[in-house]
Amino acid sequence: MPQRVTVAKSDELPEGGSIVVNLFQRDIAIFRAKGALFAIDDMCPHQGASLAGGYVEDGCVSCPWHYWRFRLSDGAWADNPKVRQNTYPVIEADGQIQLELPDLAQ
Ligand code: FES
Repeated sequence: MPQRVTVAKSDELPEGGSIVVNLFQRDIAIFRAKGALFAIDDMCPHQGASLAGGYVEDGCVSCPWHYWRFRLSDGAWADNPKVRQNTYPVIEADGQIQLELPDLAQ
């Protein structure tokens, strides 16, 4: 059953910013871009860079090491959408940012 987990206060993630949270031994990058929030697995599938340190443009984050680009909306690699990072619904309410996660604790 999915669960909601509070991961940050809203003011910890300003426009254009990113943070990494670790939940159930999984690093998840959260971005605020053009007023929307996105959550995507942080570890780049190429060689493991943190996508949270990447540059966001046109709805994609570019990995800071070799510039693979991933769509924030669905995690797809822009050059080969068959390669896909996990993404997670993000809820913001009452000054809190929450992620909705599948049951990762099992
Ligand atoms: S580690 Fe991300 S593109 Fe190489």
